[in-house]
Amino acid sequence: MVYINVAVCLSVLLFVIGLSVGLSMNTFKGRNALDLAPLIDGHNDLPDNLYNKLHNDLRTFRFEDDLSNDDVWGRTACPTCFTDLPRLSKGKVGGQFWVAYAPCESQYKDAIQLTLRQIDVIRRLIQRYPNNLQLVTAAGDIETTWRSGKIASMIGVEGGHSLDSSLAVLRLYYDLGVRYVTLTHGCNTPWADASPVNEGNVYNLTEFGQTIIYEMNRIGMLVDLSHTSHNVMREVLAITKAPVMFSHSSAFSICNNYRNVPDDILQLVKKNNGIVMVNFYNNFVNCNDSKNATMEDVIKHINHIRNLIGPDHVGIGADYDGISIMPVGLEDVSKYPDLFDRLYESQKGEPTWTKEDLEKLAGRNFIRVLQAAEAVRDSLSSESPREDIITANELYVAQKNEGLTPGSCQTALEWDQLKTTDEVSNLSTTMETITKPEAS
Ligand SMILES: *[C@@H]1O[C@H](CO)[C@@H](O)[C@H](O)[C@H]1NC(C)=O
Ligand SMILES: *[C@@H]1O[C@H](CO)[C@@H](O)[C@H](O)[C@H]1NC(C)=O
Ligand SMILES: *[C@@H]1O[C@H](CO)[C@@H](O)[C@H](O)[C@H]1NC(C)=O
Ligand SMILES: [Zn+2]
Repeated sequence: MVYINVAVCLSVLLFVIGLSVGLSMNTFKGRNALDLAPLIDGHNDLPDNLYNKLHNDLRTFRFEDDLSNDDVWGRTACPTCFTDLPRLSKGKVGGQFWVAYAPCESQYKDAIQLTLRQIDVIRRLIQRYPNNLQLVTAAGDIETTWRSGKIASMIGVEGGHSLDSSLAVLRLYYDLGVRYVTLTHGCNTPWADASPVNEGNVYNLTEFGQTIIYEMNRIGMLVDLSHTSHNVMREVLAITKAPVMFSHSSAFSICNNYRNVPDDILQLVKKNNGIVMVNFYNNFVNCNDSKNATMEDVIKHINHIRNLIGPDHVGIGADYDGISIMPVGLEDVSKYPDLFDRLYESQKGEPTWTKEDLEKLAGRNFIRVLQAAEAVRDSLSSESPREDIITANELYVAQKNEGLTPGSCQTALEWDQLKTTDEVSNLSTTMETITKPEAS
């Protein structure tokens, strides 16, 4: 009798355990990973919209409202607007890089002033919504900020032209809270090529460019390789001491756009322990002009990267507010959870995403990369700041290539010779045909 009772109890117990395990397995949805780890998006251009719409005057900006149908910010009035606090909350966004961007036309002119203006508006936006946003500059603060119910808000500078070839400016951006610099936007800098040069090279990464990478490693500024030429990606990956990031790029072998990352470079990113944060832009995820991209296209990019180099080097950098066409199913910042649901429900031929994998994709991979960059910074703390100055010849050639009058915008003593000499170095002055860059 006792034995029977024990047997009955045991089977009831096993049944209950089995049921609860079964239930919890069945009830887990991909989106639940976003409650276990912060979703960190590598690239949002809202600050550029704040300039275009409001000249950065935030007094009338109602970020706390759902702006989907707003007269200024809604879909009809603003084709590049996809972001507000209610939709970020619905999208379970836990960390966001807000982008300080100055257009390429400002290169050799007022790029620094325009970039500072955008850093300022990001900082003021964060201060204006202290219950929702918090400035974060250290990897260790991302998760705690997110757990306190706020979006860990980080700053990225998009485009090396914002440095004006100055290490001093790079260091001070860091002091203002910037944690990545994208080496180029759509335009070459005098020291690094942008994606429109395709397979070719104008400057590749010059010696001064290598110095910039060294200094970024030394101070703990992440190197963002989105927008650079594929050769610059290779050159940087050969010398960087810290893991790199791609803040908003997808897979080249799925969509042959030079803004995307080819397979050989994905292999190098794995070796480097870096991260590719996948861009959702229609034209980068689906190279077919005659149809709009869908969430399924984005899934293909994420799965391609995962199949090739594993789940530790992929993240999300959707590019909301930088572009005007987003895929069907990922129309604004509220849609990320749908993407995670879909990845978890993998289909035949697709990799299986575990809960842990989804947490990595969401944010743990990026946190690891930032932590590693901080460790490199700390290991180089006894090194002195680099004092290098770009040569007048390099500036001469680069400005000539841009059709500018070399030196016309410069007054610095070290570039005096730039105004008086036409003797240029062995750098090529002929530029390859460069198509107008994609805005994103
Ligand atoms: C440019 O960089 C690529 C990639 O590292 C390299 O293969 C190529 O030789 C470089 N070209 C020049 C002209 O330096
Ligand atoms: C592009 O999309 C159209 C419409 O769906 C399709 O008919 C065509 O085959 C696609 N082209 C390529 C190159 O995939
Ligand atoms: C793509 O979507 C836009 C609206 O988002 C629509 O105007 C356009 O007609 C669509 N293009 C195609 C080829 O379906
Ligand atoms: Zn961009």
